[in-house]
Amino acid sequence: MPVRKAIIPAAGMGTRFLPATKSMPKEMLPIVDKPVLQYVIEEAVESGIDDILIVTGRGKQAIENHFDYNPDLEIFLRGAGKQDLIEQVRDIGERAQIHYIRQKEQLGLGDAIRLGRHHMGGEPFAVLLGDTIIDPPAGQKPGLRQLLDAYEQSTASVVAVHRVPMEWVSRYGIVDGQPENGNPDLLRLRKLVEKPAVNLAPSNLAIAGRYVFSAGIFDCLEQTPRGVGGEIQLTDAMNMLAQVEPVYALAWQARRFEIVNRVEYAKCFVEFALRRDDTGPRLREHLAKLLAD
Ligand code: G1P
Repeated sequence: MPVRKAIIPAAGMGTRFLPATKSMPKEMLPIVDKPVLQYVIEEAVESGIDDILIVTGRGKQAIENHFDYNPDLEIFLRGAGKQDLIEQVRDIGERAQIHYIRQKEQLGLGDAIRLGRHHMGGEPFAVLLGDTIIDPPAGQKPGLRQLLDAYEQSTASVVAVHRVPMEWVSRYGIVDGQPENGNPDLLRLRKLVEKPAVNLAPSNLAIAGRYVFSAGIFDCLEQTPRGVGGEIQLTDAMNMLAQVEPVYALAWQARRFEIVNRVEYAKCFVEFALRRDDTGPRLREHLAKLLAD
């Protein structure tokens, strides 16, 4: 069965960005002129998925407003002769069917995904973390598309991973597996551990924020007790799934920008702004001057 749907969890409190996130979801922080979440939705759409369920929470209404029409703004833009901007502000909201569900309590990523069970309707589905932008090298397919290709070959759940320095393993879900079918980048997983201590980590392959699941993950999530941080961990449910059906990890080359702290946010903003013709040249000049002083 082809993958048609995705869940984007975007319910976290964003405390590392306070005070900015007091009234604005962290997923709505702009990278140049688009919110982080719009990059994520564009990746899903460009990967062939247009039915998207966003898991939100209290104080996240800006997300729904962003992907909706805004008649007052459109009347203003029309009056000002800025028709091209109307198309830009409508664009992504029209390319995807976006649905919402609210997580009432902060019970973790596993709980957020569990809330999507009804909407996924027994079909396989993708998960894209709403605070992570995947940036494949030029000429490569969008991140999620690479995972979907792997899924279509094996029709088994698959998660993107990348190598991290050993001292960072306790920030991530870490996987352990064996290459199969001669592809060294595709591992059949034996074990997954959420945020292990360095001495307990089975490898330095970290879960990178993009997943494709068979519907079997929901039964595992229902049985997953609270884990690290007192939260229901998606990684624990995946570990359970890997004991009953094949689960793979795809080690990819794509860069990942995790908008989870101020430095990573600033790096992503600057790097994206440097790449653009309308902002890059002047910003480069300014940064060069700043850094020379
Ligand atoms: C979550 C997942 C973790 C994964 C990480 C990637 O952790 O639980 O397995 O490696 O995202 O960003 P969080 O960043 O929400 O603590």
